[in-house]
Amino acid sequence: MSIIIAIDGFSSTGKSTIAKALAKEIGYHYVDTGAMYRAVTLYAMEHKLIGADGSVDEKALVGKLPEIKIGFSLQPDGTQHTTLNGRDVEDAIRRMDVSQNVSPVAAIPEVRHALVAMQQEYGREKGIVMDGRDIGTTVFPDAELKIFMTASAETRAKRRLNELLQKGQATNFEEVLANVVHRDHIDQTRKESPLRRADDAIDLDNSEMTIDEQNAWLLARYREALKKAGQ
Ligand code: DC
Repeated sequence: MSIIIAIDGFSSTGKSTIAKALAKEIGYHYVDTGAMYRAVTLYAMEHKLIGADGSVDEKALVGKLPEIKIGFSLQPDGTQHTTLNGRDVEDAIRRMDVSQNVSPVAAIPEVRHALVAMQQEYGREKGIVMDGRDIGTTVFPDAELKIFMTASAETRAKRRLNELLQKGQATNFEEVLANVVHRDHIDQTRKESPLRRADDAIDLDNSEMTIDEQNAWLLARYREALKKAGQ
């Protein structure tokens, strides 16, 4: 049998790293829902639906939703790239300007409804690891395993800064930390499915853990959940 694994938490806690590793280890599909909100944001930016002041033309964006096709394409090296209307946008959606505009886009109820419906469809046959903010609360409230990840804002900003610098993007610690704190605030206070820990989630604070330790921890939780689901 297979189950649904929901991994939620604050930005840059390493959700995708741990989710991808588990999916690979146990042969499940992996879905990065943040990438979906980022792809919609990139579309809005490219179609001039986001002003220089960060304001979003919500009505126009909602009207364009049927034209926004998001997908994931498997690469020869086994990684997944996000596509937007058939174009590989994996690098573009990780840019700092997209990170700066994504929270208001992800707060639009119609955007969330459209993406949540797609996410639920991906999980119809189970056997999926999905990471995001509302997977254990809204997308799959009945998921057999729910993890809620946290780490201090400074730890998260350091990790994100390293990622961006490795990709050659010009930024600095203060800018990244400000973005992390700002996104936490919008994600937690938006009306439509805010970032919230599901009551039955298991907490993982990985501030002091290596990647191998986290992977082993999650694999153990998966085995327990699978056993419980089979009873
Ligand atoms: O995980 P990430 O940083 O790539 O996510 C980008 C943004 O998308 C984040 O600021 C919050 C939003 N998001 C969301 O609202 N719900 C999700 N399930 C996933 C991401």
